[in-house]
Amino acid sequence: MARRALLLALALTVGGAGCGGSDGGGAEPAAPPQMPGARAPGASIAQQNGCLACHTFGSAGRDAPGNDLTRVGARLSRAEIERALTTDPPEGMQSYEHLSGGDLRALVDYLASLR
Ligand code: HEC
Repeated sequence: MARRALLLALALTVGGAGCGGSDGGGAEPAAPPQMPGARAPGASIAQQNGCLACHTFGSAGRDAPGNDLTRVGARLSRAEIERALTTDPPEGMQSYEHLSGGDLRALVDYLASLR
């Protein structure tokens, strides 16, 4: 039964290897969150008004309960975006009608530019 012992020894060797190997572990430094078109005035208006609490813009923000808005300009027209922000906000989102006309326009410009 030497063959059996050999197999056992082999199994033990293989089983023992591979344990405790560390692949470096540790978190990689995360890239800072970055909004697309971050230098547009509307990007800071979005930040100031808390849009990032419910929406993602690129790697910035939180992806719930609102959709990812990274390419919202490709999906919705300016008019649709403006309507969502003012007269017809979706369920779960407040209206931003109270923004000044200039801020609202900058915000809509910014969202429409995200393609
Ligand atoms: C309290 C959470 C919340 C906040 C804050 C919020 N939203 Fe929303 N938003 C939602 C939800 C929920 C929807 C509906 C689901 C969806 O379409 O993303 C939505 C929908 C939208 C839509 C329509 C998206 C689509 O694909 O049809 C736009 C545009 C939008 N939000 C823009 C904004 C902007 C700009 C701000 C900041 C001024 C903002 N939202 C703030 C929750 C929020």
